Amino acid sequence: MYTLIRNGQIVSESDVVHGDLLIQDGVVKAIGTQLHAPGAVVLDAAGKYVLPGAVDVHTHMDLQAGPYRAVDDFYTGTVAAACGGTTTIVDHMAFGPAGCSLWHQVEEYHRLADGKAVIDYGFHGVIQHVDDTILREMGELAQREGITSCKVYMTYDGKLRDEELLRVLQQAKKDGIVIPVHCENDGVINYLRSWYRQQGLGQPIYHARSRPARCEAEAVNRMIHLAAMAGDAPLYIVHLSSQEGLREVCAARQRHQKGLGVETCPQYLVLTEQAYADPQEGLKAIMSPPLRTQQDNEALWAGLQDGSIDVVATDHCPFRFAVEKQAGLGDFTACPNGAPGVEERLAVMYTYGVAQGRLSICDLVRLLCANPSKMYGLYPKKGILQPGSDGDVVIFDPNGTHTLTHSDLHSAADYTCYEGMQLCGSIDCVLSHGRVIVEKQKFLGQKGAGQYLKRGQSILVE
Ligand code: URP
Ligand code: ZN
Repeated sequence: MYTLIRNGQIVSESDVVHGDLLIQDGVVKAIGTQLHAPGAVVLDAAGKYVLPGAVDVHTHMDLQAGPYRAVDDFYTGTVAAACGGTTTIVDHMAFGPAGCSLWHQVEEYHRLADGKAVIDYGFHGVIQHVDDTILREMGELAQREGITSCKVYMTYDGKLRDEELLRVLQQAKKDGIVIPVHCENDGVINYLRSWYRQQGLGQPIYHARSRPARCEAEAVNRMIHLAAMAGDAPLYIVHLSSQEGLREVCAARQRHQKGLGVETCPQYLVLTEQAYADPQEGLKAIMSPPLRTQQDNEALWAGLQDGSIDVVATDHCPFRFAVEKQAGLGDFTACPNGAPGVEERLAVMYTYGVAQGRLSICDLVRLLCANPSKMYGLYPKKGILQPGSDGDVVIFDPNGTHTLTHSDLHSAADYTCYEGMQLCGSIDCVLSHGRVIVEKQKFLGQKGAGQYLKRGQSILVE
């Protein structure tokens, strides 16, 4: 089966080529001009960008978080992703029962995703305690399942102590595994959370006050030094949110620390703690780390421009405002942490990045497609359009503007943090393995068509 995309601006992280893209049996066959193929499905991309399908390496589908469950399962969540131009996700698993093997959550997540995902997907492992068995299992997951990354937390109930983090990093260095890490200082946060609560200060703004930027910066700094002590172990800092945190990253980059990857998310680039001003509405943006200031936004944009930050992912973790989020009314500590965003990423980043002159179209592809794919062992199958790559494509029309509103989105969440934003351009259609799965915001794909991805080695591994 052939699909021929004609006359587009075909974008990679390094250049834009005008021409045709031919996909045969789901795989890119050729890029050129005047291409022909017998019986091909032909799509006209004149005046439009032809982008590699975007790769989101930070989602939480079907996440059990304490008493709450994220409302997108692997079907609704991946439909939302696809409609937003994302054709691959790598999902972060929830913690399993205390003391469980790493295999416990891998098996659970195959049950949750298989037969449901509409786009290709992989998993990051999760480490919630450390002993010899867990350290051995890290290598097993990589060998048998292609799970070449295992996440650790420095806060929440499944957090690891410094000596445990060091042991994990030493093992990761040996096995060539990437350690994504949630960096926040747990002790300070817990103290501040109970202090605000005792003072009767339960409104959403105190969620931000109880997790100051220095909590992130201190944890980023500590984790970077632990990775250095483990011989520059492959380390990937998730959802960086602050200028202070970025300064620690820049210091490590200046010291030429190897094996360091850094991610931020659209919410930390375009939203601020103003979102917490209203005691009701502010619940929508309770997430960790919290939203910061405009100065932090600007610093993070600069970090994307100068290459200090490698990836823009979403941390999609949706709860309903009308239901789960209401638990936090008057007491932010009871509110489930997280917000939707998997569908909004490409549109928001195109508007605030490319249309507003902060990023080139090639930068957009670098940050949303090529780099996430390289960081997590998916390149060049994903994140680039070249012969041999998967035929995962977004045809993006840069013309026109529209208003983003929740009712146009596909997540099971009942709101978007970006409600009412004026967006530039729009997604014309999305292809997965050469088949059109989204056309003009309408999902046309199939439940269960997504394939599980056994991932290879990250570029962070030497
Ligand atoms: O608030 C958030 N981001 N919830 C999801 C879990 C995490 O911390 O990444
Ligand atoms: Zn997350």
